Amino acid sequence: MLKPHGKSFDSDFRANFADLIAWRRDVRRFTAQAVDETLVQECLQLANMSPSVGLSQPWRFIELADPVRRQAIVNTFEKCNAEALADYHGDDKTNYAGLKLEGLREAPVQLAVFADTTTTKGKGVGRKTMPEMTAYSVVTAIHTFWLAARARGLGVGWVSILEPEAVAKACETPENLQLIAYLCVGWPQQEMLTPELETAGWETRTDLSAFYKKL
Ligand SMILES: Cc1cc2nc3c(=O)[nH]c(=O)nc-3n(C[C@H](O)[C@H](O)[C@H](O)COP(=O)(O)O)c2cc1C
Repeated sequence: MLKPHGKSFDSDFRANFADLIAWRRDVRRFTAQAVDETLVQECLQLANMSPSVGLSQPWRFIELADPVRRQAIVNTFEKCNAEALADYHGDDKTNYAGLKLEGLREAPVQLAVFADTTTTKGKGVGRKTMPEMTAYSVVTAIHTFWLAARARGLGVGWVSILEPEAVAKACETPENLQLIAYLCVGWPQQEMLTPELETAGWETRTDLSAFYKKL
């Protein structure tokens, strides 16, 4: 029954929501199909409703369309990925070399997501003893964006194998903007229930019981 001043969600919605979470993937393989700008804006509007410390809304989204700027992101990924590969040995090295960890050349939409570490919005509530809450607030927005995109059939891939300074330079951002994520967005080649890293034999998902206890 609908509450007078509320909104209730029925069991169909809950089942669909569970499916949305289960079918969300980190996507690195995109088709060449363009993405309608309005879809991206819808996802950003929903992301902008995410929880944030003190209602500070510290997320700053920069969409990179310029090929020269995008190439700078590819360059920093190539450098960081080669350095990461050099740190692995044996089977891990072989396996790491075979992983696809970004869709930077294919994704039609690319967003650098920053946290404004000096925003006065929210008047500092909740950030005094734990300033990292600003960055965490941006992560909530990214997750909302991720789910909103998936609900529209879009795939999102989070790329973190980057030098933040190089991304900041490509985005011409000031020092108070901290890089949180670089997102590749587009139509996925495949829809999967299993994370790609699991399919590739790199890591497996662990049951909740290993991560939860009640004291
Ligand atoms: C903070 C963060 C950073 C990530 N960075 C990368 C990355 O650089 N490259 C990549 O391929 N995946 C990256 N991922 C995606 C994870 O690999 C992915 O979430 C995980 O393997 C589980 O797969 P799923 O998202 O499809 O469930 C990142 C995810 C998070 C949350």
